[in-house]
Amino acid sequence: MTQEQWTAVDRYITDLLCPDDQALSSALADSEAAGLPSIAVAPNQGKLLQLLAQLQGARTVLEIGTLGGYSTIWLARALPKDGRLISLEYRPAHAEVARANIARAGLDRVVEIRTGAALETLPKLVAEPGAGPFDLVFIDADKENNPRYVEWALKLTRPGSVIMVDNVVRGGAVLDEQSEQKAITATREMFELIAREPRLSATAVQTVGTKGHDGFLLARVTS
Ligand code: SAH
Ligand code: DHB
Ligand code: MG
Repeated sequence: MTQEQWTAVDRYITDLLCPDDQALSSALADSEAAGLPSIAVAPNQGKLLQLLAQLQGARTVLEIGTLGGYSTIWLARALPKDGRLISLEYRPAHAEVARANIARAGLDRVVEIRTGAALETLPKLVAEPGAGPFDLVFIDADKENNPRYVEWALKLTRPGSVIMVDNVVRGGAVLDEQSEQKAITATREMFELIAREPRLSATAVQTVGTKGHDGFLLARVTS
């Protein structure tokens, strides 16, 4: 199969099952117009996130890595009116685009974007009374820090919570034991950390589609 075929199949699936609407398509268009990189989740993965949050009965979601708020909108739509989604974003310019996209989607009462390096905003969140536990955590920021993000996610969840990590396969680069790329060594470190973590039951699934060959990791907090 070629990239064109993966893209065509994604389009077939998305047109039938995951159609976008004004808020989602404008979120992508305005992100692009503002010069943000085209690295948001694909529509069918956004819909998967939304379905997972609904299956989970999630009322609270933590996202690490907002970009223009595209995945944020999919996730926030799964929440009840009094639900809460906190999304952590390093770049103020990304957060600004995301806030506008989220307000246009009518989700600004549910979503709060916190700017700063997640390794600095996560400890503050943990220290905040009533901030957790989150029912679902979506990790999709700088891959170098994924092992640390999983550790923070464990502090901010409860038994039964779900943790999803994006981009854990990277065209198969995850297999490269000799890699000198921090993103790859950290991804491998994260897999090993999860493998020996008794509080997590996990799997990872490879994906092909508009975003090439990649994959996501799904974990359930067991205790
Ligand atoms: N979840 C988004 C895509 C996120 S892209 C979606 O699917 O729509 C990754 C984002 O993580 C970028 O916006 C980047 O600025 C942000 N990021 C990078 N390093 C970070 C850090 N240390 N803390 C928080 N966010 C970070
Ligand atoms: C990158 C980040 C992502 O979250 C993604 O889905 C694809 C690419 C990146 O940093 O290159
Ligand atoms: Mg991603």
